Amino acid sequence: MNARSSALPDFPWDLLEPAKAIAAAHPDGIVDLSVGTPVDSVPPAVRQALADSSDAPGYPLTAGSPALRAAITGWISRECHASGEFGVLPTIGSKELVAWLPALLGVGPRDVVVIPAVCYPTYEVGARLAGAEVIRSDSLTAVGPDRRVKMIWINSPSNPTGRVLPVEHLRKVVAWGRERGVVVVSDECYVSLGWESQPVSVLSDEVTGGDYTGVLAVHSLSKRSNLAGYRAGFVGGDPALVKELLAVRKHAGMIVPAPVQAAMVAALNDETHVAEQRARYAARRDTLRTALVKSGFEISHSEAGLYLWATRDEDCWATVDRLARRGILAAPGAFYGPSAARHVRIALTATDERVAAAADRLAEPF
Ligand SMILES: Cc1ncc(COP(=O)(O)O)c(C=O)c1O
Repeated sequence: MNARSSALPDFPWDLLEPAKAIAAAHPDGIVDLSVGTPVDSVPPAVRQALADSSDAPGYPLTAGSPALRAAITGWISRECHASGEFGVLPTIGSKELVAWLPALLGVGPRDVVVIPAVCYPTYEVGARLAGAEVIRSDSLTAVGPDRRVKMIWINSPSNPTGRVLPVEHLRKVVAWGRERGVVVVSDECYVSLGWESQPVSVLSDEVTGGDYTGVLAVHSLSKRSNLAGYRAGFVGGDPALVKELLAVRKHAGMIVPAPVQAAMVAALNDETHVAEQRARYAARRDTLRTALVKSGFEISHSEAGLYLWATRDEDCWATVDRLARRGILAAPGAFYGPSAARHVRIALTATDERVAAAADRLAEPF
């Protein structure tokens, strides 16, 4: 038996353990801004919906309950400004879908998946699990006429850079994909977190004009609704592709648990908690951004999303080390692509108290 994991990249977070140990030794404790894991509570109405559905002895529907399908459809129509007929499917968080999508859609050896030059590592993992080759590129021209390309990932707002892709760019990628029969997948899990610019969904009428052929958008409730622990995501777009995903996922048992489906309905039908959570992140972002700039960091992109993409124009590991000595843990840019080795990623996901502690520590001279 071949070890599947040997085809995968190294699990990068293990490399951060030494810096974590240094940061944890700070007398006032670590401020961990490395992983973007939500720390604020699950909205009460969502917890109630989960509890109310806990008597769930039967198998849930892979396609999602009628209530969930309606909630996802309504949310995509409203929040993504999509007026056409698209397919929808709940997923067990979005990471599993990112990791299995190429394989689920029949991408395989001899095929190529294009991913952003600097990106969330799971796009590469998904291509490798399918046995496909990966090209890292933000330029369609650089990809050229390679007929082996079967799928292209875009991610706006980006993790880790916070860059937002303009409508014009999204249109070009969709047109490029359609000309070549390449599936365009847009990971939009930070779409509700626009700061200096407003992210646009690939499903919006401005981009696709209501025709979703060859296009999928991946969404998550992890960040929007603090539901990372529930594992709640969904995909929407080309009805034929969604139908194919459903057909395979039914066989594979990739089913969102019934209480989580009920919780998703409550979360998708309420925008008040989303606005409240946004306000928390906006305040933390201001505090961290001001403190980082004052202490000599330059902030790149970061116009949306859950991170500040910062540099001192030195190797990212040197910056990680400097921060760790002040008890702050950041993620090195090198985790996200070879061209990102001079940046660090600072997550906004810490309590107000920890964010204030980080700002105080950044005020000490470097
Ligand atoms: C760009 C991106 N996509 C997908 C995910 C996966 O999120 P989840 O599995 O919690 O939905 C993350 C998580 O951080 C992410 O940053």
